[in-house]
Amino acid sequence: MSYNLLKGKKGIIFGALDEKSIAWKVAMRAKEEGAEFVLTNAPLAMRMGEINKLAEACNAQVIPADATSVEDLENLFSKAQEILGGKLDFVLHSIGMSPNIRKGKTYGDLNYEWFQKTLDISALSFHKVMHVAEKQDAMNEWGSILALSYIAAQRVFPDYTDMSQAKAVLESIARNYGYRYGKLKNVRVNTISQSPTKTTAGTGVGGFDAFYEYADKMSPLGNASAEACADYCITMFSDLTRMVTMQNLMHDGGFSTMGISEDVVNMISK
Ligand SMILES: NC(=O)c1ccc[n+]([C@@H]2O[C@H](COP(=O)([O-])OP(=O)(O)OC[C@H]3O[C@@H](n4cnc5c(N)ncnc54)[C@H](O)[C@@H]3O)[C@@H](O)[C@H]2O)c1
Repeated sequence: MSYNLLKGKKGIIFGALDEKSIAWKVAMRAKEEGAEFVLTNAPLAMRMGEINKLAEACNAQVIPADATSVEDLENLFSKAQEILGGKLDFVLHSIGMSPNIRKGKTYGDLNYEWFQKTLDISALSFHKVMHVAEKQDAMNEWGSILALSYIAAQRVFPDYTDMSQAKAVLESIARNYGYRYGKLKNVRVNTISQSPTKTTAGTGVGGFDAFYEYADKMSPLGNASAEACADYCITMFSDLTRMVTMQNLMHDGGFSTMGISEDVVNMISK
């Protein structure tokens, strides 16, 4: 159902790789709610993914950008404003990648060059995105910038290895840039901490099926789906959440507040 929550709003959506991607669902919902936006992803991912299918469905243009490259981001932000005919109201950073996780490295055996890549792609890119937006004065007053995080920023999930540190840095950047952008332009900056979700990035983490199942059994509402996450992103881009900023917002069916659930007790006592 559409509520026209984003009517007249313009934005950039990073990170739609395929139909399972959270960013894909956000783009579809944003379109339904009346937004106009540009889609972007890393050049390599665009060749592997299906972003052009999404672009067609959303009547959106695609501009490739490696989110670790300030030059690519400068090109993206200036072209996006040209295409959309004005400044932006929302940005979704839905980007995560760890070469260490991809190559199955354990926490005690991390490759430090890859660790730095993990941080650059999954966390520092968020700072770079806002830095470029600020320099180009690309955001409208009361705009909204969001990144997606995971509870491994605060709690230990051994197989999440260096992505845990990346998410902790990401959330810290949201707080610190949130202060800066709030003072500068009343722009709000938040992270949404999402339940485990069956996407390419999610299922790449070792033991994913077990912690997906565990989180589902721990949460009174069950795991939040990618579609529900998209709904939450839309509300955060809408004018209904103008005073929410510098927050890490839990979107996890209640998981983060639980100690143990009856379902998990029953599972273990079997
Ligand atoms: N799936 C989960 O369980 C889960 C849970 C919580 C948070 N998240 C977060 O949600 C976000 C989206 O992930 P997803 O689950 O939709 O998976 P996904 O694999 O569909 O999306 C990850 C995206 O990051 C992009 N990316 C990687 N390197 C890039 C670069 N250098 N420049 C630009 N883009 C780059 C990929 O191309 C891909 O589109 C990530 O931040 C992820 O950590 C996912």
